[in-house]
Amino acid sequence: MTNKISKTTFGILSVIALSLVLGACGAGKNKTNVEIFQGMFDQEAMKFQDWDPDSKDSFTMRVPPENTVPRGFKPYKYGLDFMAAEKGLINPIKKDFSAKTMERAKEHYQVYCGLCHGQDGKGDGQIAQHMILKPPALISDKAKAFNDGRIFHIITKGQGIMGSYSRQIIKETDRWAVVNYIRTLQRKAN
Ligand code: HEC
Repeated sequence: MTNKISKTTFGILSVIALSLVLGACGAGKNKTNVEIFQGMFDQEAMKFQDWDPDSKDSFTMRVPPENTVPRGFKPYKYGLDFMAAEKGLINPIKKDFSAKTMERAKEHYQVYCGLCHGQDGKGDGQIAQHMILKPPALISDKAKAFNDGRIFHIITKGQGIMGSYSRQIIKETDRWAVVNYIRTLQRKAN
């Protein structure tokens, strides 16, 4: 009995499937095909991960013309030259220690810096104990002597084994605010 029902069900499903398949192909020369999934399958546009035989390097994605930048992108002119950054970068919010700015900076610091450098900048963050090369304290005389531009540069480009945090702290003013926040930690440590 069960066998019979399943055979009948199978038969009905086969007929439906077959008619769908045939329906999809049998539109004739002058008619658009019936598409079951209307995903605009047949089109000229290429997916960006496809190979493009007409492109010089076979990639579908084109390399942007030389000396162009994406919209909204601000080039960082110091590259990895921390000395130039130290000289050229000037903290635009040097005097902004307002509660609002510090609160936002604290949040950024605690999430992205404190886990290594310690919530108070003592170099004793939660993951520092698991690191072979320990993150230095940020309340040290050395870090105190760094000017704002140098610290901004380290956040933006990293230093030695520390990576860049420009993708985590995207806005430049937020990075400057973190610099200011580090100054408050340094003052507190005195
Ligand atoms: C994964 C751990 C880690 C995180 C997260 C991290 N750092 Fe570092 N940081 C280091 C290490 C390790 C060094 C030493 C790198 C070197 O010189 O090779 C360092 C160096 C520095 C220095 C230079 C200190 C000195 O005495 O030379 C500054 C300033 C600094 N970090 C600031 C920050 C700030 C601000 C953040 C957050 C945006 C941050 N770091 C996030 C690990 C980290």
